[in-house]
Parts: sequence; structure tokens; C-alpha cells
Amino acid sequence: MKTKHLISVDDFSSQEIEKVLDLAQKIKRSPQSYRDALGGKMFGLIFEKPSTRTWVSFEVGIQTMGGGTIYLGPEDIQLGVREAVQDVARVLERYLDGVILRTFAHETIMTFERYFHKPVINGLSDFEHPCQALGDFLTLRERSKGRKRPVLAFVGDGNNVLNSLVLLTAKLGGHLRYATPVDFPPSSRILKRARHEARETQAVIEEFRDPRQAVKEADFVYTDVWVSMGEEKKGKAKVPSFLGFQVNRELLRHASKDVLVMHCLPAHRGEEITDDVLEGKSSIVFDQAENRLHVQKAVLIHLCT
Ligand code: CP
Ligand code: NVA
Repeated sequence: MKTKHLISVDDFSSQEIEKVLDLAQKIKRSPQSYRDALGGKMFGLIFEKPSTRTWVSFEVGIQTMGGGTIYLGPEDIQLGVREAVQDVARVLERYLDGVILRTFAHETIMTFERYFHKPVINGLSDFEHPCQALGDFLTLRERSKGRKRPVLAFVGDGNNVLNSLVLLTAKLGGHLRYATPVDFPPSSRILKRARHEARETQAVIEEFRDPRQAVKEADFVYTDVWVSMGEEKKGKAKVPSFLGFQVNRELLRHASKDVLVMHCLPAHRGEEITDDVLEGKSSIVFDQAENRLHVQKAVLIHLCT
């Protein structure tokens, strides 16, 4: 049987995604029932960039399900620098049962996967952040008060997080309205895949130039940093394009009355989101962060057991 991975949201069918979200809810209710689920399996976390949520939630998730972890940070393995990616993959395949990879280039994960015939999970690349999007859809499920298809609005950079949200919305038949500056749209490859999926699922994915239009009647408003990890050098030049794309009180006046605010974190307070909104009553950013743990445990069980 072909090894299953989670490198893109597209690696899972709509049915698999629903199954993983159902399992995540069960795990969240009864974590003790899964304490031996991984039966001693060993996982490597290979991170080329810093992390709080992804690193810690994977380590905690694996260890509390009876597995073991080894964290390899930017200085340790130096994928493609100290040694070719394909050599690292072939060596680690002999020791480990799966890896979580956080890389600059998405291509690095794709190369790794070709030589590592066990589960590979994308813990963020420059193209996608599938674990984040799955955790976020668990949060949407929990916070939608029975609404079948809540309206999710995304305002900000069309980067990895938005790419994964677009694909997941398409696969689950959701409703996403997004506004990005004209020079920072989501990937055209992702949009093409999403349009294809949406024909099956009746998903609605709408693009706006004006953030106020995008958040109109939104139940959830989501943003991400304007300057992502690895973009720090060109970051300053990017910022002027995002004026008007800040999630602040004035923007939220255009959304639904009881709108909830989401952010993948880390946040650059005062840039893409104001302090008062992040700290305000409508912010659910820490519930989102918690759900990374539950959903990733479900992903690990789905891929590795
Ligand atoms: N949201 C997220 O992936 O956070 P980290 O960068 O801290 O892992
Ligand atoms: N777009 C951000 C997401 C961080 C979770 C980044 O890539 O840095």
C-alpha cells in the first residue's frame, strides 16, 4: 500500500478530512483513550525555522500517545547544506517511523518525501500549512453554533496559511471570502485546484480587493502576518501594500455583529492586527492554537496506525 503523507491539504480526500476532524473531536473529549495509540513509534521533527505551536503540539501529541520524538533544529541537520536532502531522508527512514518537516522551500519536503517511504507531515513550508488549516476547521466546527456553512473571511497576505485555507474550504464545501493586496494573492495553482474541487462540493470562494467587502457579514475574520518567516529581508518593502488590510475595530464594524477573530499566530501586533482586537472578546486565537494539538494527534493516528 502507498504510504500516506500530509504535505498538502490535497493529500486528503474530503472524506478523510471529515474523518480526521471527527477523530480530533473524540481525542479532545477523551485524550486518555489514545495514550497508547502510537505504540512506541519514533518521529523526527526537522525544523529549518523557529516554532512554538507546531513544535510543542507535535511533541506533546506524540509523547502523550505513547510515541517518541527527536527535535532537529536549524543548526542540526541543515538539509541540503551539510548533506543532500535525499541522503538525509534515506538515513532517517532507517531510524524513524515518520517526520514532521518545517522548511523554507516546499520543494525540500517534496524531495524528502520521494526518498522517505514513511509518513511525512508538512509543519509549514513557503507554500502550505495544512496542519494549521485543519486545526482551524476544527475551531470553525466548534464555534459555528450549528450554522452549516459559516462565512470565513481572510484579510492579509496570500501565503501558506491562506493557500491551505482555500484548499480546505474547497474540499469541505465551505464559504471563504478573501482580500489580499493585488501583488500578494494566494497561489494560482491552489486556486485552480480549489475551483475544481468546488465544482463537486459547492464551496464558495470569493476574491475581493477591498477588505471591508470581504468581511461583510463574515462570521469569522482571519489574518496572518504580512512578513512571514524567511521574508524578513524583503519585509519592509512589502508592508506599504498592506495599508488598509489591518484587522482592527473599524474593519470589524463591517462584519457580522458577533464576529469571531482568528489568527494562526505568531502575531505582529500593531501590523496585521491591533492589540485590542487580539485581546478582545471576539478573539479565539488561543482556542485555535489549542486545536492544533487535537487535530495533529488525529492526523498522526490516521497516517501512522
Ligand atoms: N501557527 C504556527 O504554526 O505557529 P508556530 O510557528 O509557532 O509553529
Ligand atoms: N505565514 C506565516 C505563518 C506562521 C505560522 C509564516 O510563514 O511565517
